[in-house]
Amino acid sequence: MIHPAWLPPEAFRAVGSRRVLVQGTGPLADTVRHEIAQACARFGGSVVPDRETAELILSIAGPGGEGFRLGRRGGATMISADGPPGLLHGLFEVVRRGERAFDPALADERHVPVLARRMLDHWDNIDVHPVMGQVERGYSGGSLFWHDGRPRDLGRIRDYARLLAASGVNAVAINNVNVHSTETHLLTDRLTEVAGLASTFRVYGIRVHLSVNFAAPVILGDLSTADPADETVRAWWKSTTARVYEAVPDLGGYLVKADSEGQPGPFTYGRSHADGANMLAEALEPYGGVVHWRAFVYNHRQDWRDRSTDRARAAHDHFAGLDGAFRDNVILQVKHGPMDFQAREPISPVLLGMPSTRLAVELQVTGEYTGQQRHVCYLPPMWSEVLRAVAGHVSGLAAVSNAGDDPFWTGHPLAQANLYAVGRLAWNPARDPIAILDEWIDLTFPGASGELRDILHDLMDESWQTYEQYTAPLGVGFMVRPGHHYGPDVDGYEYTPWGTYHFADRDGVGVDRTVATGTGFTAQYPPAWADRYESLATCPDELLLFFHHVPYGHVLHSGVTVIQHIYDTHFAGAHRVAAMRERWQEAAGLVDPALHARVTERLDEQQRSADEWRDQINTYFHRKSGVPDAHGRRIH
Ligand code: GCU
Repeated sequence: MIHPAWLPPEAFRAVGSRRVLVQGTGPLADTVRHEIAQACARFGGSVVPDRETAELILSIAGPGGEGFRLGRRGGATMISADGPPGLLHGLFEVVRRGERAFDPALADERHVPVLARRMLDHWDNIDVHPVMGQVERGYSGGSLFWHDGRPRDLGRIRDYARLLAASGVNAVAINNVNVHSTETHLLTDRLTEVAGLASTFRVYGIRVHLSVNFAAPVILGDLSTADPADETVRAWWKSTTARVYEAVPDLGGYLVKADSEGQPGPFTYGRSHADGANMLAEALEPYGGVVHWRAFVYNHRQDWRDRSTDRARAAHDHFAGLDGAFRDNVILQVKHGPMDFQAREPISPVLLGMPSTRLAVELQVTGEYTGQQRHVCYLPPMWSEVLRAVAGHVSGLAAVSNAGDDPFWTGHPLAQANLYAVGRLAWNPARDPIAILDEWIDLTFPGASGELRDILHDLMDESWQTYEQYTAPLGVGFMVRPGHHYGPDVDGYEYTPWGTYHFADRDGVGVDRTVATGTGFTAQYPPAWADRYESLATCPDELLLFFHHVPYGHVLHSGVTVIQHIYDTHFAGAHRVAAMRERWQEAAGLVDPALHARVTERLDEQQRSADEWRDQINTYFHRKSGVPDAHGRRIH
């Protein structure tokens, strides 16, 4: 049994028990009609041919677009859509509201997405890697798209597309940004697989994007170079792209990870990232396609003895100087923080410093550094902070999906809420993430009792802050086991080529990124931000060790010393997990037993892991600093 996630049949009761008129033609109007017909067959409503008797009217009132107006006219609830996609989004708005959508006092509202492209990036491979599995950083089983080296049956993929459409997503990159040899062929001789996925997603208004290998002309085309200045290379991309669009006329475009963590790129040929991106953009331009070019470029062959290299600086150092050099259909895709999806990071200065470049912010729904879907970690409060900070600077969002072929889609059933909310926040970043959680609860657990709702809020509302409490302190990040990135290992990366992250010694901890005495990273920010982070007096506590190296006795704005803060938060975080685990027992009987059992099992592991984090971090810093806990608690 596959869990229905946020679209159980019951979610359609209000719509399906009414007389409904759908006006409009074309594939998306047909999808809406099909949804209505199914709901009506189940709940006793009917599809009617005219306005007179209709209680719900969905119509296309404009030439195109995703927006819609919701309101009441002559005793009926109306969706007037800007275009076919708006009809679909309008339907799901009515579904979310349930009976409330039919309140005679319903006020007129206009809904338009704030971010134009709301994309999920799958890090799925066709092949199964012996260590990484099939989905890179996937914690929900195998790929939804491929199995045993072949495309899967499209039925479940259609259900997935439907779930995504209901959350507001309108684009999906289907394969891993690390494009290995088998997957490189999706661009040419495996194109029919891309076309199959595209036809399934299209039914729900979602465009497919393809991750491509920058060295494809060499790997697939028998060319001796992938140099973007070479005419034969440019011609190869043009003719290859022409064939791609014959097979998939509405492909969204390409996604590229270049010169990053071993992937090929323009640096090999002494060319810039603008040269590389623009070559692909030129090939895509005739078809309306875009290139998502990732800014995740850094040196992963560092020497820990060299204190001048700072991974946080890398993206801005590489890209800021290229502002204005990219073609119009290039979108620079930038991770939200300057490092790599840690539980706490400042905003990437690239997102604030490239006004003449189209930008998309990249988030990670899959919990690589946030508990790997074994821990409860509701991330939208973090994303909401990010999206508010970059409002007006970005026009799109790309989020690394956490879905797989697991019966609950996301391994941890409560991690479904992250997948749901990322689309909803991209549609409207001003929304309160806790209100989105309520929306998810209403849909996923129809008729949820007040008790169940309270339990879910107790577990989820502050779960990100709880996770932060028992893991790496004060913005310093990493401290995870190298490779799989699960569980504590304070010095795991400290002396490796991937970067140096905490510089803890007997006197203090943190990375000095100031202009005055450190790596100068703070200067990459606009002046007001730079000043705030540069000064110990104004740097927020939660990012202190990201920007400063301080003695253990440094007193935080909160009034406690750094070392005491480390002890206090680690005891508190593990304690909160124990409370969550107990609280969940009260949900037995209020939810499906299989879901209850799965969450129980995950909470057991979260408790074990949180205790392990608490003890390793506290012991490490106790041994380094020699400072006892002011409250005399047990530190091993
Ligand atoms: C992280 C992650 C990798 C991934 C990379 C990326 O480093 O651990 O698995 O490939 O991010 O975003 O490209």
